[in-house]
Amino acid sequence: MESQIVNIGVKEWKINHNYDWINALESGKVIHFSNLPFNISQTEKKLLSPLILKKNCRNVSLSTTNQLKGAECDAYLLDALTNLMKRFRQNATTLITSLAPNYKLETSPTSFRPIQVEDRKQSYRGNDKLLHIDAFTTRPNHGKRILRVFININPNNIPRVWRIGEPFENVANNFLHKVKPYSSWQASFLHKIKITKSLRSEYDHIMLQLHDIMKFDSNYQSNAEQIIIPFYSGSVWVCFSDQTSHSVLSGQFMMEQTYNLPLSSLYNPDSSPFAILSNIIGKKLL
Ligand SMILES: [Fe+2]
Repeated sequence: MESQIVNIGVKEWKINHNYDWINALESGKVIHFSNLPFNISQTEKKLLSPLILKKNCRNVSLSTTNQLKGAECDAYLLDALTNLMKRFRQNATTLITSLAPNYKLETSPTSFRPIQVEDRKQSYRGNDKLLHIDAFTTRPNHGKRILRVFININPNNIPRVWRIGEPFENVANNFLHKVKPYSSWQASFLHKIKITKSLRSEYDHIMLQLHDIMKFDSNYQSNAEQIIIPFYSGSVWVCFSDQTSHSVLSGQFMMEQTYNLPLSSLYNPDSSPFAILSNIIGKKLL
């Protein structure tokens, strides 16, 4: 398997527009920056504990209007946490907009994940230790892309360890024949009873099915082509998580920024999951 990761040694978040790196990203590879500056102050180090989580919350989330959810600590630390997450969001946005100025980014909330991956309790379907592509039960995206920027801020240099699987085209070729037929009646019903926030399109249906089929195939999980990558503290990595087959094996203290973007703002829309699936199926899916 051609390497699914591209290491980039730049030392500033504002980088040059670079077609090779964009092509790598849009073909489903992970681009990895190990030298970007992101200092964590002594006060911010106090935030690196699962004890700051509110009861029954797994993550802290910072909305685009800077409302913090999921954290419980004194006002001074809440303010520090808001600033830490804002600083990451600003840096992540600088990185992506300087790399790919055409991208019309829609910024989602920023998340901070202080729970140790090995301790997380997740359903089979929600288990991120299993190789998958991102697709969401409640939030159809109608072909919009999911771009994610991650940073490991572990204070003890404990890596966040990922598995990265085979290219999306191989995933689609392996599993499309197992996808159940799309039902527009069922999609309308799910929307009507508010299980989905908008109508699930055929594209969304197929992506969700691929996500589930991959996770439930234990033979595939063990035997699919894959690499294991440790992302050490300070590492920043970026991928289209609706395209890159990925899973997280271990680690603690990570921040993540998600963006959605329309297919039309990609540099190579033909390498998107939408184009790959439409090609194999022989019709435009939306
Ligand atoms: Fe994921």
